Amino acid sequence: MFKDRSYCGEVGKNDVGKYLTFFGWVARKRDLGGIIFIELRDVTGYVQLVVDSSKSEAHIIDTANQLRNEYCIMAKGEVRLRSPETINPSISTGEIEIFVTNLEILSVSEVPPFQISTAANLSEEVRLKYRYLDLRRSEMQEAIIIRHRVCQAVRNYLSGKRFIEIETPMLNKSTPEGARDFLVPSRINKGMFYALPQSPQLFKQILMVSGFDRYFQIVKCFRDEDLRNDRQPEFTQVDLEMSFVDPPMVMEVIEGLLAEIVKVVLNKEIEVPFQRITYDEAMDRFGKDAPDLRFGLELVEVSDIFKSSKFEAFATIIRSGGKVKTVVVPQGARVSRKMIDDYSEFVKIYKAKGLYWARYKSGSFDGGISKYLSESEQKELEKRTKPTEDSLLFFVADFPHIVNDALGNLRLRLGKELNLCDDNTLKFVWVTDFPLLEYHEEDKRFYAKHHPFTAPKREHYNMLDTISPENVDELKAQAYDVVLNGVEIGGGSIRIFDPQLQKKMFALLSISEEEAKVKFSFLLDAFKYGPPPHGGIALGLDRILMILLKRTSIRDVIAFPKTQKGQCLMSEAPSYVSPEQLEELAIRIIDNERIV
Ligand code: AMO
Repeated sequence: MFKDRSYCGEVGKNDVGKYLTFFGWVARKRDLGGIIFIELRDVTGYVQLVVDSSKSEAHIIDTANQLRNEYCIMAKGEVRLRSPETINPSISTGEIEIFVTNLEILSVSEVPPFQISTAANLSEEVRLKYRYLDLRRSEMQEAIIIRHRVCQAVRNYLSGKRFIEIETPMLNKSTPEGARDFLVPSRINKGMFYALPQSPQLFKQILMVSGFDRYFQIVKCFRDEDLRNDRQPEFTQVDLEMSFVDPPMVMEVIEGLLAEIVKVVLNKEIEVPFQRITYDEAMDRFGKDAPDLRFGLELVEVSDIFKSSKFEAFATIIRSGGKVKTVVVPQGARVSRKMIDDYSEFVKIYKAKGLYWARYKSGSFDGGISKYLSESEQKELEKRTKPTEDSLLFFVADFPHIVNDALGNLRLRLGKELNLCDDNTLKFVWVTDFPLLEYHEEDKRFYAKHHPFTAPKREHYNMLDTISPENVDELKAQAYDVVLNGVEIGGGSIRIFDPQLQKKMFALLSISEEEAKVKFSFLLDAFKYGPPPHGGIALGLDRILMILLKRTSIRDVIAFPKTQKGQCLMSEAPSYVSPEQLEELAIRIIDNERIV
């Protein structure tokens, strides 16, 4: 009975007169006094079934009367043209309907907790609890099907460029990607744990040593970190590694790959190569290492203008090593006093002590801090920021990282609230030359900005011996991120392949020889046997799909995602396990100091 199946969304005018069989779910039933219309849904779309009580056989009318929403049914019938006044242009099969000659209920459905067609407005909690029903919605089906097509395109493209897909283990020793590991206890090795991979970083480097000079994998990665809309505890990377490459070669492969992906999802060509800016430039101009280039409102440094200013709020901070930067909003009349008050509160989230402002009207500054600025300061400011009539200038004066953080985030908020970010624009950009290390004041030590295997820039090798918290930002890495519309969608680097340099790096990161041996001895050992120069990158597949499909969260492009609290509301994971399971693993649970 299932063999001669037709799909709901694929039948059309050319099929008129044919008798076809469909399987699917009742999306809607309308009984218009004797004529019953049934909207049938399957993975391809919708088709309208018609049962006419004056013409259809009695058993068909009887079955049609029993149908309720979400019943799973089989319907066979003749494809007929609809009369012109009943054509439905909103569905692809709107010109035809199926006059039912055979109808069977395959399984019944309880009244669903929500109507599939209206689920988009429901709370996400309900959607995630009943994910099997949520996934029946066309929006979710579209996302999952496009995801599949993107994965196919990735495989085709990379295979065509000589990449080989190789699986790496899920049960590992921990890899230091910076987040916490998810641990899995070993039953046969009591007291020991595997770590789920934060990424296949070490294994793909080992594969380079083994001679597979172009590796890729579409792979699940696991990170126990604080979750947000673009972060899941398990997510998917398009991970790759190449031998005998420099950063431009990696970038070229990724630009081609992203162009393929955009073609598959949006049927659109994008411009390559992407713009490239350095980390320092991104921070200076946008206050962020993942800048959104869809709009201007760049940060402009004005510290030099105010270093001897009588306006103490600026002069004091500049004297103590701080900076003053401004963002110029053209057509500033669109920003009300109430909005300015809101923004003043907003910058406090980023630890800025205050937000200052001034308007530019009829050739001079007006309002806000204008009256505290000398004539020459105003002239310089005008020259530097080139305001136009009605421009509004926002200033933050603070430590450099606070200025960037506060104004960088204010810029994004302004971009949204003043509708400056066109949703249909895709702005890809490479951010290069990241600092190799960052210094954490709390524990007074260096951490890898990317990961410990990232190579410094060749010309900065000698700085490794003289690095200090003061000049840490000057030591740059051969690392690059690819950013789309202000979201980091991928990151990678050229790796260290000299064991001596790698040891030096571990020492800088306060990873003792002992610890390095325990954690990465296999990599260091492998490097004794002719490691090739290599580098790579990983793209965040979920994030790319989220942006291209204009979804607000990566949860909307993942079939079974977790909530912000890391729970699966459908399967109710994580869950307690039985005492027997724990016993077998030799694990005791300590709850509030109490052993249960
Ligand atoms: P990185 O840690 O930068 O690099 O990760 C690569 C990309 O993965 C995505 N991503 C995430 N997506 C969803 N949820 C998360 N929790 C999450 N964390 C990261 C981002 C990010 O750009 N091994 C290196 C790559 C390399 O050096 O080759 C790595 O994992 O889009």
